[in-house]
Amino acid sequence: MNPINDYLKGTVKELQGEKAFTYLAKAREITERKGIKIISFGIGQPDLPTFDNIINAAKRALDEKFTGYTETEGIKELREAIADYLNYRYHAGVRPDEVIVTTGTKTAIFLAIAAYVRPGDEVIIPDPTYPAYPELTKLFGGKPIYVAMKFDPEDGFRLDLEAIENSITPRTKAIVINNPHNPTGAVFRPEEVTKLLEIAKDYKLLVVVDEIYDNFVYESSTFRGILELEPEWRNYVLYTNGFSKTFSMTGWRLGYLVASREVIDPIRKLAANTYSCPPSIAQRAGVEALRSEASWRSSRAMIELFRRRRDVMYEELRKIPGIDVWRSTGAFYMYPRVRKILDGLGMNVDQFADWLLENYGVVVLPGTAFSETNMGRDYVRLSFALDEELIKEGIDRLRKAVEK
Ligand SMILES: Cc1ncc(COP(=O)(O)O)c(C=O)c1O
Repeated sequence: MNPINDYLKGTVKELQGEKAFTYLAKAREITERKGIKIISFGIGQPDLPTFDNIINAAKRALDEKFTGYTETEGIKELREAIADYLNYRYHAGVRPDEVIVTTGTKTAIFLAIAAYVRPGDEVIIPDPTYPAYPELTKLFGGKPIYVAMKFDPEDGFRLDLEAIENSITPRTKAIVINNPHNPTGAVFRPEEVTKLLEIAKDYKLLVVVDEIYDNFVYESSTFRGILELEPEWRNYVLYTNGFSKTFSMTGWRLGYLVASREVIDPIRKLAANTYSCPPSIAQRAGVEALRSEASWRSSRAMIELFRRRRDVMYEELRKIPGIDVWRSTGAFYMYPRVRKILDGLGMNVDQFADWLLENYGVVVLPGTAFSETNMGRDYVRLSFALDEELIKEGIDRLRKAVEK
C-alpha cells in the first residue's frame, strides 16, 4: 500500500494527456538520435511568432512594472476589450462583468466543466474531439457520451443531430460544441448549430461552447458564432474563446469564459482558488491584441496564408492513393481517412504514425488522439500551420512511404 500512488486511482491517474505533446517529445528525441530533419504536422499552433505590436505592449507593461496580481476576473480594460470584440463581431450584448479572463481557453473549459459536472452526469461530445472536454468530464465523475460525426468526402464532417438527440438521457447535463472544429477542420453550418441549440433548450441542457478558431474560417459565409445565433445565450451557454490562435499567442496563456453574471460570480471564486488571476503582462498584451488595428491586420494576413497552405495540403494529399481527404473549411487541420492505407500496411493508426516518424521523419497525429472509436482509428490529423514548402516535402515523404 502506497498512498501517494494508490490514492490517485480513479482520479488524475486515469487522465489521458494530449498526444500532440507526446509526439512533440518523440520528434525531438528522434532528431537528436538520428539527426534527421523532422517535418511536423503535429501540434496545433501557428508557426509565426506573436505580432510585434503585441510584444511591444508586453514590454511596456514590464517597463511600467505591471507585474503584480490583478483582479481574478482579469483587468477591466481587457474585459471591456473582449466584450467589445464579441459585440462588434456577434452583436451579442456581452457586458464586461459577464467575462472572466483565464489562463488560456483550456482553463476556461476547465472552469466550466469543474463548475457543472458532478458524478454520474453525462456530457454529450461530438466524436472525434479535442480531448480536454471528455478528460475533464471524467475527472469530475461525469461520463462523456460520444456521438460520431458524419463524414462524407464531398461534404465533410457534420454533426449528427438525430444521434445527439437520441443519446440524451435523464442524466445528460451538457452538450459540447467546438466550432470551427478541432481535429476535423469542419465549420458547422448555422442551421446545424441552431438545431443543436434548440435540442439543448428543449431538454434543458447546458451548452459548452469553444470557438477558439472563430477567425480561422476559409469560406466566409459558413460560420456564425453562437452568441450571434442565440440571443438567449445567458440562459444556458458557457462560451469560451482565447488569444492563442488568432494572435499566435499560445505561450502567453490567455483565454476567457463568457456566461451570465450569476455564473461568473461563483466561477470567479473557483478561479481565485485555483490560479488567482491570469498573468498581468499577458493581459496588457491582450488589450493591445484586441484593440489595435495592427494586430488584426497581421492576424488576417496570417489566416490568408493559412488558406493557401490548406489548399496546398489538400492538393498534395489528394494525390496519395488510399486517402479520403476533404478540404477543411476552418481551424488549421485536415483529418483524412486512411483506413485503406492502414489495411494495406497491416498497421493500426498508432503504429502508422510511429512508423512515419521513425522512418520518414514526418509527424502526423493518429486519430486515436481525438477518439476511441473508428472516428479515431481510421483517421490522422495534419496541421497546416507550417511553411508551404515544408507541407509539400512532408506530404511527399508520406506519399513515398505509402507507395512503398
Ligand atoms: C479546440 C481547442 N480548444 C482549446 C484549445 C486550448 O487553447 P489555449 O491555448 O487557449 O488554452 C485548443 C488548443 O489547441 C484547441 O484546439
